[in-house]
Amino acid sequence: MTERIENIRREFTEELSRVSSDSELEQVRIKYLARNGLIGALFDDLRSLPAAEKPAVGKMLNDLKRQAQQAFDDKRSTLEQSRGSREPAPDLTLPGRPRPTGTKHPLTQTMDEIKRIFAGMGFSVAIGPEIETDYNNFEALNFPKDHPARDMQDTFFISKNVLLRTHTSPVQIRTMQRQKPPVREIMPGRVYRNEAVSARSLVSFHQIEGLYVDRGVTFSDLKGTLVAFARQFYSIDVKYKFRPTFFPFTEPSADMYISCFLCAGGGCRMCKFAGWLEILGSGMVHPHVLQNVGYDTEKYTGFAFGMGIERIASLRYGIDDLRMFYDNDVRFLRQF
Ligand code: PHE
Repeated sequence: MTERIENIRREFTEELSRVSSDSELEQVRIKYLARNGLIGALFDDLRSLPAAEKPAVGKMLNDLKRQAQQAFDDKRSTLEQSRGSREPAPDLTLPGRPRPTGTKHPLTQTMDEIKRIFAGMGFSVAIGPEIETDYNNFEALNFPKDHPARDMQDTFFISKNVLLRTHTSPVQIRTMQRQKPPVREIMPGRVYRNEAVSARSLVSFHQIEGLYVDRGVTFSDLKGTLVAFARQFYSIDVKYKFRPTFFPFTEPSADMYISCFLCAGGGCRMCKFAGWLEILGSGMVHPHVLQNVGYDTEKYTGFAFGMGIERIASLRYGIDDLRMFYDNDVRFLRQF
């Protein structure tokens, strides 16, 4: 009896190891494990054994049955797993699924175009830090301490002498401290003002500064450069005017206006019925500023200008709420 049990164990193990399909597995199950299979038959034979042998042989049989069932279950899960890896290979000739592509943010597009136009006139790009000293942001730009001109720009102070820059003009100072004339640079970047957020003002926005210093630079160079810019950025026949204004760091100073491109000067909501849109501030660099960076004011003159990117972009695209540039709503962004 013991010998028969060992034979059946060996045959079962051998046959199971050759199984490679579900139907072969099922045949092994019927042959050995089913109620009337070979292992079941051994249990029938157990009954006719002498009582003294029953316990030992019975234990052998129970072990065989349990181990055979375990080996069978293992085989079944191995088969199931290998079926998973035998799935048909992906069809590499299928067309790909289109992925949604993003677009450049309208502010980036506006910046890029302004940079491109000035690059065409020989300006290179310089950048400076958003955290500035009071000296670079105000003092060197001819804003005396306690001068009311500082109130033009509400400032976030970090400490007594360190602040978030309120304009990109401090990059003029850094640029001139770094190099001797001629200087012909534009300086884009983010600026900060401590103002209540509304449709018309933000606590953080972008400017592009421009600076040109050399021998014999005049106000006509300023006008010629900015008019050339406006013709390229808006249209070749854009109407423009310069109106005197005040900045501590330029003298004389002028705001540049272009005729409203929505109403062509007739008056509308966009230009607040003035027919004109202010697009930038500019002027001849104040001699104090040149002296502060150690330039010889007998030899050199220069002009500077600064424009707000959000303002330029909102005018161009007719956007009446500046906050939309920062909401990151793709329904808005997708339109550019
Ligand atoms: N810095 C000025 C502003 O923020 C703009 C400006 C720059 C004016 C350069 C003149 C020259 O309003």
